Amino acid sequence: MTQTEQLKMHNFNAGPSILPKEVFEEASRAVLNFNDTGLSILEIGHRTPLFEAVLQEAISHARELMKLDSDHEVLFLHGGASTQFMQVPMNLLDTNEVAAYTDTDVWGTKAIKEAKLFGHVEVVAGSKDKNYTYLPKGFRVPATAKYLHLTTNNTIYGTQWQDLEAFYAYNVPLVADMSSDILSREIDFNRFDLIYAGAQKNIGAAGVNMVVVNKNILGKTTRQIPTMMDYRNHIANGSMLNTPPVFAIYICMLTLRWLTNNGGVEAIQKKK
Ligand SMILES: Cc1ncc(COP(=O)(O)O)c(C=O)c1O
Repeated sequence: MTQTEQLKMHNFNAGPSILPKEVFEEASRAVLNFNDTGLSILEIGHRTPLFEAVLQEAISHARELMKLDSDHEVLFLHGGASTQFMQVPMNLLDTNEVAAYTDTDVWGTKAIKEAKLFGHVEVVAGSKDKNYTYLPKGFRVPATAKYLHLTTNNTIYGTQWQDLEAFYAYNVPLVADMSSDILSREIDFNRFDLIYAGAQKNIGAAGVNMVVVNKNILGKTTRQIPTMMDYRNHIANGSMLNTPPVFAIYICMLTLRWLTNNGGVEAIQKKK
């Protein structure tokens, strides 16, 4: 096996992960000539039917793969998952309210740091004491918490919340950073009120986040939210509040299409 083949099989590096070769083949054709338009995917207008079809297909694959109900909206937003560390509390947490956070990797720690800028944070469970080598069990979450935040897969330290049932029982809105395990295993995604994932791990190229949000939890803070940070504006404008990251969304669409055509989440979970 060549070194490249080995790297393609197991990429444990930081940053972007391996994508299916079919995605690259299709994307490379689209860079030169997108859908026989004579134009590159990099130069088509984002408000054209051409790109609208790409975005709609990406959303519809995501909805189907995640079996989302009609309360949940799928958004493709600029910025990496780190942007969500602040966008989540900015939208969901008032200054005098409490959000519960788990601290099970540096990503959780970073999310906590940002949330503290917007309201009170109670770290209800963490594993910093043993260098993030375990996942805490049996912790309490205040019933008044606006939401409980978890990182489903702790990318750097390698732990994963495999059993999510305990989280469902807390009866507070659940917010999850699923950047490094989204669509790799079957989860009841509708149990979460907000899910975010930087695309570059499992669903595409860097430069875009997929955000799945239950629209019923929005609009409950008194804070003035900057236009680009307010999820409601992105929902109202179908992820096209401004120029979207067209190429990154296109790669997500191809990857989600590939996943759909290859048996969906159930099939990919069996491959692990
Ligand atoms: C779980 C998790 N959250 C957040 C991030 C940060 O993502 P980004 O670099 O897109 O901001 C990463 C990056 O690997 C991650 O694995």
